[in-house]
This record gives sequence, C-alpha cells and structure tokens, in this order.
Amino acid sequence: MKVLILPDAQAAIARAAEIVARTVTAKPDAVLGLATGGTMLPLYEALAQRHNDDGLSFAQTTSFNLDEYIGLAPDHPCSYHHYMQEAFFRHVDIDPLRTHLPKGDAADPRAASHDYEALIEAAGGIDLQLLGIGQNGHIGFNEPTASLGSRTRVKTLTESTRRANQRYFSSFDETPRYAITTGVATILSSRKCLLIATGESKAEAVANMVEGPVSAACPASALQFHARATVILDEAAASALKFTDYYENVHPEGRDSVFE
Ligand code: GLP
Repeated sequence: MKVLILPDAQAAIARAAEIVARTVTAKPDAVLGLATGGTMLPLYEALAQRHNDDGLSFAQTTSFNLDEYIGLAPDHPCSYHHYMQEAFFRHVDIDPLRTHLPKGDAADPRAASHDYEALIEAAGGIDLQLLGIGQNGHIGFNEPTASLGSRTRVKTLTESTRRANQRYFSSFDETPRYAITTGVATILSSRKCLLIATGESKAEAVANMVEGPVSAACPASALQFHARATVILDEAAASALKFTDYYENVHPEGRDSVFE
C-alpha cells in the first residue's frame, strides 16, 4: 500500500485531485469509481475548479458510485444521487448518461444490486476507485464483518454508521437502515484504488486498515491485498500509524517515490 502523508487536509485533497486529473488526462474515457461523504466534497470542488480553470474534461469518462441508501428516490435531498449532482456532476461536463449510482428506490433492491455489478463489468471495470473510510473501517457501506469476497448487494447499516450519517437527516429514525453497496471484492477488482482520510476521527480506522491484520472486522484492511492502492492522509488521520517514518522516507511530503 502506498501511504502518502500530507501536512493538512487541504494539501491531501490537492494531492488526490492531482492523481484524478492525471488519470483522466492520460485516459479521457476512464471509468471512475466515485465516493460520497464529507471528505470527498473538497475533492469534487477541486476537480470542478480544474475543469473551469484548466479545461480538465470528464466528457468521455464513465462513473459508478459506491453506494446508495435504500428507500431514497434520486431527487431526495439526502440521497447520494442528489449529493453527486450538487457536489460534482452539475459543475463539470460529464455525460449524465454515463453516470451511475445504485437504484436505492428499486422495487427489488437485490435484483438492482446484481444489475449494477453487471453494468460495472460491461463497462470494462473501474480504472480508478475513489474511497473514503468510515470511523469503523467501512469502505462503501461494507460494514465490519462484511465478506471480503462480496459483490454489490444490500447491506444493513450499523448503528454507529447511522449515527455518523444522522447529521444529514432530520433525526436518527429518519436515517436509512439499508443501502446497496458495491462489495469489497468489487472494490478490489478496480485497477487502482485511491483512499482519502482526513482528521483525527479516522486515525484508528486508518491504522487498522494500513497496519492491522487483514480482517473483515476492518473491511478497508482488504486493500492490503490490492497491488495498486494509494492512501492519502493528513497528519491527523495518520497519527495512529506506527511506520510513519518509513512512509515519509519513501514519499517525502506525499510526493511520488524516486522509482515512480
Ligand atoms: C459514508 C459512505 C462512505 C464514506 C464514509 C465516510 O458512510 N458510504 O463511502 O467513505 O461515509 O464519510 P465522511 O467522509 O463523511 O467521513
């Protein structure tokens, strides 16, 4: 796992934006795996700015989001469809027909999950998968004890995840209990993964992911099996790591190593 430690959240986001921009420039028809959450908001803002200022184009890219709440229609203000529209899609030139999120309001969520996995495969798989991490080590909505061999399916959210996401809803009871999420194995099938974590609240989950045993207790630790996974951290999110000196030696100030 490539661990890049940046001094603060702003620098971490700038580094992540650079990697996404490089991917899209090298392969304009790249298939991007997109994530939601507070961590990603400044990243989408930075990418929209590059679109406006430098002409970075998403016109030929295809996107697949990681997850969506079950029971929320795309126009629900708390849906991830709505989040993506507001945070990213409407600010860039991506073709709406090439953007995909699981259908949270499908009559048959299990069939919709199966169809979503098939769509990703039909698009040729994901070139770059963006990821955040939950305080409990989840990626997408793969909660602790999720099968590391899982594909897109329905997951029941933990109480801690519902509490963490309650801030977007009017109450805890309003916060959805279920989601459709791409699986851990779906994520591992991406050609590259880029996980971003900022802030001290992520420090323990980050340490478990990077240096802990690979375990379904921390689904993000499965990324240790991925040959091309990069983790971008600010110092606060990196604060519980043991081998920080090594990471900083290989990637001073989060730069590429001399062999890249
Ligand atoms: C949600 C999403 C995850 C995201 C996580 C962290 O639960 N399903 O994909 O990584 O939250 O969000 P935040 O960046 O707000 O901490």
